[in-house]
Amino acid sequence: MQTIIVTGGAGYIGSHTIIELLTGTNFNVVSVDNFSNSTSRSYQRIKDITGRSFETLELDLCNKEELNVKLSKFRDIIGIIHFAAFKSVPESVVDPLLYYNNNLTSLTNILDIAKQQKIKNFIFSSSCSVYGNADELPVTENTPLKTAESPYGHTKQIGEDIINFVCKANPEFNAVLLRYFNPVGAHPSGKIGEFPLNRPNNLVPIITQTAVGKNSLTVFGDDFDTRDASCVRDYIHVTDIADAHVKALNYLIENKNKKNSSVFNLGTGNGVSVLEAIKSFEKVSGKKLNYTIGGRRDGDVIAIYANNNLAKTELNWIPKFSLDDMMQSAWKWQQTLESEN
Ligand code: UD1
Repeated sequence: MQTIIVTGGAGYIGSHTIIELLTGTNFNVVSVDNFSNSTSRSYQRIKDITGRSFETLELDLCNKEELNVKLSKFRDIIGIIHFAAFKSVPESVVDPLLYYNNNLTSLTNILDIAKQQKIKNFIFSSSCSVYGNADELPVTENTPLKTAESPYGHTKQIGEDIINFVCKANPEFNAVLLRYFNPVGAHPSGKIGEFPLNRPNNLVPIITQTAVGKNSLTVFGDDFDTRDASCVRDYIHVTDIADAHVKALNYLIENKNKKNSSVFNLGTGNGVSVLEAIKSFEKVSGKKLNYTIGGRRDGDVIAIYANNNLAKTELNWIPKFSLDDMMQSAWKWQQTLESEN
């Protein structure tokens, strides 16, 4: 059976993607994770949801030798989906070297192994943060990239450049770079979702934790040049993001890619302000959120949302979930976590 390597498979988007791979394809899945921001509990949750098993390797992608030894035992690897990375914009502003070291070392190591083991197909978790404060909205894949606002965003810009150069040098190597906008929500079953080990920095887990009294919400900035003066993002359901990975993988395997390095925006195309996101949560949960307004957060772009036409036409990907669905599923997941405590 052909094998797909998923790095960061115990993490938020990785775990949801493994579910889509196990339910929608016949590939053998191997997850590689060091649990730096996840736990092995995700694996059990995936098995409970899908009824399928898969292999797991606990190791740090920065340890190239161990990675090489452990991956060389798999004979028929047809592709790698590379999620494993640190992902907090504010943390990267405080500790840039942590982000450059981890995100870029792990990327070059896994690319090197792909080359040595002649693994042709590669999918990279990029981010809309590569656009910086873009001059035009919505952004298309051809919108010029501005200076990144954070080291996190910069590691994604550099990561894309590295992959593009590797593709140029190795015409047989095929890569898809997926620029996620703001992945949120949880699996519709309510049995798996985002599980940050430390205090989360992302808006939606902070919202759901605030609703159960385990966190407090501050809206970062109310002086932006946007329709209600809070930041605008393109929130996209994590299951839609996961589905795009399966589609991107098939696109590569079926040789439908026109270039050996292709980039796609994964967003809904809707710009939503922080205050609108809060209102949607309050509507679907019936909970009133107590929040305060604070200053701007370093590293934040003001507004960004996607033109997603390319992913729709090339990958045949259509996001299915609304903002309310995203908030509803995030809330359901928070309640699952509460019931387990
Ligand atoms: C960024 C990336 C996104 C990536 C994510 C990974 C951009 C534009 N997007 O998301 O592609 O997947 O990192 O972590 O760079 N906010 C508050 N209060 C809070 C937390 C957040 O007001 O306590 C606001 C932020 O200012 C922002 C919005 O909520 O406007 C979303 O923030 P967050 O969820 O942290 O994601 P981004 O940093 O936008």
